[in-house]
Amino acid sequence: MEKKSLITWTEEYELGYNTIDEQHKKLVEIINNLYNAFVEAHAMDVISEILNEMLDYTAYHFKTEEDFFVKNNYPEMENHNKEHRLFVEKTKGFINKYSTQDANLTYDVMNFLRGWLLAHIQGSDREYSRYFKKMGIKEI
Ligand SMILES: [Fe+2]
Repeated sequence: MEKKSLITWTEEYELGYNTIDEQHKKLVEIINNLYNAFVEAHAMDVISEILNEMLDYTAYHFKTEEDFFVKNNYPEMENHNKEHRLFVEKTKGFINKYSTQDANLTYDVMNFLRGWLLAHIQGSDREYSRYFKKMGIKEI
């Protein structure tokens, strides 16, 4: 079956730091996988797996950013990292709720993942990329 996208990656989402852009694309791919399962009506079979994959991959991704912030003394790191922690809490909450097998939850999960990721990339992530570019840092 043809793959459908809940999020279509565009240049608009690019921060210009390759490592980060590639990690963000991977997050988009995970969300799109959930969306495809939803469209094919078997989201309930894969949602726990996908949410766990999301947690694993964001742990890796957030660490990339947070280590970089520490290394370069990013003044906004506390607020930025707080957004990461909230995402983890919320996602863990969804995993727990899933034991109740509520189909409407899939919609909430997709909405949350899509909304959070795009707002984060275009908000706080864009902010640090501007800051580091101004400092002349070419690679993360
Ligand atoms: Fe971030």
